[in-house]
Amino acid sequence: MGINLYDGGGMPLFMGHHGSMQAQRDRGPAAPEGVARHPRRVSSFRSRRSALTDSQSEVWDRLWPRLGRPALNPAGATEPLDADSWFGRRAPLVLEIGCGTGTSTVAMAQAEPDIDVIAAEVYRRGLAQLLSAVDRENVPNIRLIRGDGIDVLESLLGTGVLTGVRVFFPDPWPKSRHHKRRLLQPATLALIADRLRPGGVLHVATDHPGYADQIAQVGDDESALRRAAPGEPLPISTDRPVTKYETKARAAGSVVREFIWVRPSG
Ligand SMILES: C[S@@+](CC[C@H](N)C(=O)[O-])C[C@H]1O[C@@H](n2cnc3c(N)ncnc32)[C@H](O)[C@@H]1O
Repeated sequence: MGINLYDGGGMPLFMGHHGSMQAQRDRGPAAPEGVARHPRRVSSFRSRRSALTDSQSEVWDRLWPRLGRPALNPAGATEPLDADSWFGRRAPLVLEIGCGTGTSTVAMAQAEPDIDVIAAEVYRRGLAQLLSAVDRENVPNIRLIRGDGIDVLESLLGTGVLTGVRVFFPDPWPKSRHHKRRLLQPATLALIADRLRPGGVLHVATDHPGYADQIAQVGDDESALRRAAPGEPLPISTDRPVTKYETKARAAGSVVREFIWVRPSG
């Protein structure tokens, strides 16, 4: 985990395959027209211990084959995701990148049973906690992907398939030398905008002031997105539950900033 690298020198590394870098260079497909290729990728996540408890392992073994999948298969090959057959229905699709333990994922999916939610996370124990909640609370409209959300966007999802993308409290990488690790960079915004359908929504929240400023800038600079107007009707809810992470951040005096962009129709 944590070794997906982009090439800053303009190499065609649009795909995030876990094969060798050379293979990536050779096999990366053309970026969709109008979508910037990702610059060399450094991972936006840290490696974390991911041992599961016995009960999490039991749930994982029972449910992961049906409700979960890796972002990339072991050979590095990818096929577009068939969300309709995975969920067993056709419904508006939302991707949450970096769901952590899935507190928001579960609450928001339960609040909107007519929307299907894919939760992407690299942290296996977080996914296991989410899977346990899905099992315990019998939530039918969540599927889980283990891996880099950028790989999910690049490799599994086509242009215009998403009604929403959620990124709540992305790792802030506060030191300047780590800013390149931040998830929300111009190339990511372009990729997200491409995967959103017209009218689709990007919803971001962060408690880090510097990252918030960067997010505001890159989101506003993305020409395929515009800020949602106050009170504008949106195709997905933007009501978030307050997670443990957010409670701690607020207790430490942080201000949470929230951003909503829309892919304009037509
Ligand atoms: C600060 S936590 C926030 C978790 C959750 N969204 C919340 O609000 O409590 C950020 C999470 O994003 C995950 N993450 C970071 N970069 C990611 C990426 N490129 N793809 C998937 N998950 C990522 C990390 O593993 C971590 O669990």
